[in-house]
Amino acid sequence: MAERPYTLLSCGMSLDGYLDDASGDRLLLSNDADFDRVDQVRAGSDAILVGAATVRNDDPRLLVRCPTRVAGRRTAGRSAQPLKVTVTNRAKLDPGARFFTCGTGPKLVYCASDTVAMAGGELSRVATVIDGGTPVEMRRVSEDLHVRGVRRLMVEGGGQVHTQFLGEGLADELQLVVAPLFVGRPEATRFVGPGRYPWTASHRARLVETRPIGDVVLLRYALSERFEERPAW
Ligand SMILES: NC(=O)c1ccc[n+]([C@@H]2O[C@H](COP(=O)([O-])OP(=O)(O)OC[C@H]3O[C@@H](n4cnc5c(N)ncnc54)[C@H](OP(=O)(O)O)[C@@H]3O)[C@@H](O)[C@H]2O)c1
Repeated sequence: MAERPYTLLSCGMSLDGYLDDASGDRLLLSNDADFDRVDQVRAGSDAILVGAATVRNDDPRLLVRCPTRVAGRRTAGRSAQPLKVTVTNRAKLDPGARFFTCGTGPKLVYCASDTVAMAGGELSRVATVIDGGTPVEMRRVSEDLHVRGVRRLMVEGGGQVHTQFLGEGLADELQLVVAPLFVGRPEATRFVGPGRYPWTASHRARLVETRPIGDVVLLRYALSERFEERPAW
């Protein structure tokens, strides 16, 4: 079997398991100290992957913010910023989104075969558009990223993407932050959707750390044999 990067899933959710509140505005689930922790994890990553809906809804920059961490990456002979990666079926992404315009590093768009030609126009000016097959399979994406030199992949959501990485057994670690609030709106996005997950009542995931960070709590789970207790993230 082809190799894939060490893969860490990271997200914040409400007490009732939601990633957003369907309001159209970005829901701030975390706090400054936790954003700084996430920045550190990003700084240790070769690539950051999000779904196309997250690019459209949140318009994230997906950059390492701390100048010391950026300098540390350069000193270590790495690119200043991690590679940015997204996946799409419809190829309806705005080339003006911050995913594309922020940071000078490369951006990859894995696109379903039947829309790759459409994406090849505008998007190919701001990103490398890759035919991801039909459907785009996260295993194939992971293996292709490994071929491109990615050894540490950070997946930052949203729910559809987390569902696939978890359901397909492609995650080595989960860093889940729980925020002290409820969303209570069924139309909002959940951390994961329905699926068949490897962790069940008879095969529980291994909790390796709980860390209060201000008013949120970080839950860290080992999801595979490859889990690294003290990673260089
Ligand atoms: N709290 C957090 O930590 C956090 C983090 C990230 C996101 N979020 C929230 O999560 C919400 C988005 O989550 P979501 O579950 O709706 O969407 P998502 O996972 O961000 O993106 C889903 C989209 O990605 C593309 N996609 C996913 N799997 C694919 C596959 N196998 N092949 C091809 N394309 C694929 C499709 O794009 P197309 O529609 O373009 O075909 C799909 O509509 C946002 O509102 C955001 O606020 C929260």
